Amino acid sequence: MRSFSSSAVNVALLAANVAAFPHLAMDGLTAPLAADVAYKQLLQRQSTTNPQGGAPLPLTPPPFDAASQLINVAGAHAFTAPGSGDARGECPGLNALANHNYLPHNGIATIDQFVSATTEVFGMGADLALFLATYGAVVDGSGTSWSISGGPHVGIGGSHGNYETDSSPLKGDLYQYGSNSKLILEQFHELYDMQPDAATANYNLDVLRTFRNQRFQESIDKNPLFVYGPFAGMLVSQAAFTFIYRFMANHSAEYPEGVLNKDVLKSFMSISGPETNLVWTPGHEQIPNNWYRRNTADAYTIPYFNTDLLYFTASNPQLALVGCNEGKVDTYQHIDAATLSNGAYTAAQAAANPICFATEFALAELPGLTGLSLLSGLLGSLTSALGSVTKNLGCKAIGSVNTTALALCPGFTLYGGPTAAVAPGVIQS
Ligand code: HEM
Repeated sequence: MRSFSSSAVNVALLAANVAAFPHLAMDGLTAPLAADVAYKQLLQRQSTTNPQGGAPLPLTPPPFDAASQLINVAGAHAFTAPGSGDARGECPGLNALANHNYLPHNGIATIDQFVSATTEVFGMGADLALFLATYGAVVDGSGTSWSISGGPHVGIGGSHGNYETDSSPLKGDLYQYGSNSKLILEQFHELYDMQPDAATANYNLDVLRTFRNQRFQESIDKNPLFVYGPFAGMLVSQAAFTFIYRFMANHSAEYPEGVLNKDVLKSFMSISGPETNLVWTPGHEQIPNNWYRRNTADAYTIPYFNTDLLYFTASNPQLALVGCNEGKVDTYQHIDAATLSNGAYTAAQAAANPICFATEFALAELPGLTGLSLLSGLLGSLTSALGSVTKNLGCKAIGSVNTTALALCPGFTLYGGPTAAVAPGVIQS
């Protein structure tokens, strides 16, 4: 208040001075006016909503270093559209990395390549990158590498139920649209239209949390075979939403937390054209020019993701419970975490620690899922990557899982996709 009244006084004095000494108006007297305008602009900026919305982290604005955060999209890293033999799939982040040759252009890469590309280009924490890449390679690939598209046991596209899942942001549910990698324009519009003014648009965590809840309810209402499983649902599917702001936002000295505007969102999601006629081109996800990733001092690690996950579940406790439709739309039932974990976790404990429950569940389920022995080298790399996460978070182990309760869910599978028959009774947008 003090600043506003003193600036009002300044403006009044300035007006009086200009009237008395018109020849001074263009030099000395305009300086306080310019300072006043700049000050008001600053106040206005400071009073606008925090760019990241109400999300708890970062506690203080992270550093911004233009030289290290600008991502090279020229020369060897210029956008190159995928050819007919190149794999592109559900994940826009990995598709963009392959299109800019930060991952092999054919879309098939090793664990090390996934870790280097996601940490260098997006500022993903090394813990999160290793966790995601190792899971993909062991459960959905050869053990050491995998495809960003592919089918069962060779890529994300075929991982329906264990990695790829329902109620994703923009890609359709597998049994609702017959594809898990097709972008549904109505879903894109749902998100896009949440920020009507292009000048101030920012798809931050608040916006994405609202969108996440809408998409969850939409799968209940439209997909009779909707499954929200312990790992792919409770954990991976939240990441698909938080990653949109946390990894795609553009950073600047003014907004070191990042702002995700309409053009940047469109570029990363391979959408072009005017608002009234948006077009999706499969697999053409592009890193925009003049795009600055998050600072590595503020890398998006597993504990960071955990905070975002709890921010989401606080708005909708259902996100922290396993469940599914029972073959018809709107027949959603929860499945008790205590049953699934043979009593290791109560529902309340799982809801309070979703990463722990999901990761411990995956660890206990892996030998059955992969058919590999816990002692084998391949499974060993995964158990050690997942085990270091659960150890750091102090998670309680799940000795054995009981998946019989999932028989309630006719849509439950461990592998499937990238295409499938559309289920009877679905509603498409
Ligand atoms: C090694 C690292 C990564 C792995 C293994 C991975 C894997 C996946 C998987 C399995 C899905 C399917 C999830 C679902 O069905 O909802 C997915 C979707 C998604 N991923 Fe990634 N991802 C990685 C990195 C990234 C990065 C760096 C970004 C952002 C730049 C990103 C953004 C997304 C988004 C937005 C979706 C949802 C797509 C949609 O429905 O519109 N991912 N990813």
